[in-house]
Amino acid sequence: MLKDQDRIFTNLYGMHDRTLAGAKARGHWDGTADIIGKGRDWIVDQMKASGLRGRGGAGFPTGLKWSFMPKESDGRPHYLVVNADESEPATCKDREIMRHDPHTLIEGCLIASFAMGAHAAYIYIRGEYIREREALQAAIDEAYDAGLLGKNAARSGWDFDLYLAHGAGAYICGEETALIESLEGKKGMPRMKPPFPAGAGLYGCPTTVNNVESIAVAPTILRRGPDWFASFGRPNNAGTKLFAITGHVNTPCVFEESMSMSVRELIEVHGGGVRGGWDNLKAIIPGGASCPVLPASSLDDAIMDFDWMRENKSSFGTGCMIVMDQSTDVIKAVWRLAKFFKHESCGQCTPCREGTGWMMRVMERLVTGEAEVEEIDMLLDVTKQVEGHTICALGDAAAWPIQGLIRHFRDEIEDRIKHKRTGRVSAVAAE
Ligand code: NAI
Ligand code: SF4
Repeated sequence: MLKDQDRIFTNLYGMHDRTLAGAKARGHWDGTADIIGKGRDWIVDQMKASGLRGRGGAGFPTGLKWSFMPKESDGRPHYLVVNADESEPATCKDREIMRHDPHTLIEGCLIASFAMGAHAAYIYIRGEYIREREALQAAIDEAYDAGLLGKNAARSGWDFDLYLAHGAGAYICGEETALIESLEGKKGMPRMKPPFPAGAGLYGCPTTVNNVESIAVAPTILRRGPDWFASFGRPNNAGTKLFAITGHVNTPCVFEESMSMSVRELIEVHGGGVRGGWDNLKAIIPGGASCPVLPASSLDDAIMDFDWMRENKSSFGTGCMIVMDQSTDVIKAVWRLAKFFKHESCGQCTPCREGTGWMMRVMERLVTGEAEVEEIDMLLDVTKQVEGHTICALGDAAAWPIQGLIRHFRDEIEDRIKHKRTGRVSAVAAE
């Protein structure tokens, strides 16, 4: 268990003074100019040594990503873009940072931008986060008034401007290149990669897109040192992390904890336990809609980190877990995700545009039990046609939960079809 003194986001825990004065009292904005004074290479090396992996879901090493930005200027401006379009179902951790600890993010933007040679950064916040937008804008205004942003920001000698842009509710604008398109005033449609944003990003200029949490933890890592951060979790899965637990637990919450804790401990200590007790657990979705469902039988020794989840054919994602007890119709739950992905597909590539519709419709037949047993393998085949054949990760994200469902709950799907045949269950309505 993480001790209070090792938490980065202390203002999530009942203090709620998000003003600059409050942030400074908690140690933020302390020695910012000194950190910047150590230079770009020092900052990037420290971030690499900390082992921080991107907190938006993909887990790409943050320091490495920063190092991709060109060292020499070719005349094009550099940009940092913060992805605050937090739209993954059940993921609500960045919201807490922006609500309660906005200065951690703003200070992180200054330091990260300096480390990448950027004099401007954009925070792209999801349209529905209205209160968070207000809190963040108020904190940005405060920082400008205090000389922490703008010319010679925080007396670092670095000129730096920070802008807040808001989305309009499209999930796909959380994909980094769709986000960049949207920032440029265009329809939010993903671009082909490569080129990656560090080569050609916002307005064709070198750009790094990072998640809110990845940027917000950077100042504390640099103040306390990479060894401190790397002392939590295990190799390749370092650090403290904001987790969320939603669904059938007694106390749904967002909390900061060490990486690599056991799933059971997280649920019992922070989530107040599964409704009806651990034995009433049916399954979890570990870290967002794209992560394959894991049945309770696989969770006794489960560890919440990137490697354990990958080795067990799921993914860690955002670390925001959905817990489902025995009352859950897990087939219907995955159908609901299929419906979500179909709705959010931007439609620009055929396997995703058509495949998400096919997957949703076959899933609907599995929910009602009207499908033939053979359709289970046909559905699996459709997921394979979509996976890896699309421009962005939304196609994979739509395929994986269905693959996980069939891998772990095939018996339940077949039972429903058989019982429907014998008239023993009435159709489960798909809304
Ligand atoms: P990705 O693995 O394609 O890329 C991750 C990051 O690493 C990107 O910034 C990319 O530019 C960079 N990168 C990867 N390979 C690179 C290379 N060879 N050279 C330079 N840079 C490279 O994953 P993506 O599509 O950015 O994110 C998918 C994840 O997003 C999913 O795992 C999902 O969990 C998560 N997600 C999170 C949401 C949220 O609300 N937080 C919403 C939707 C998805
Ligand atoms: Fe659009 Fe889907 Fe293709 Fe991504 S995979 S670009 S969301 S159609």
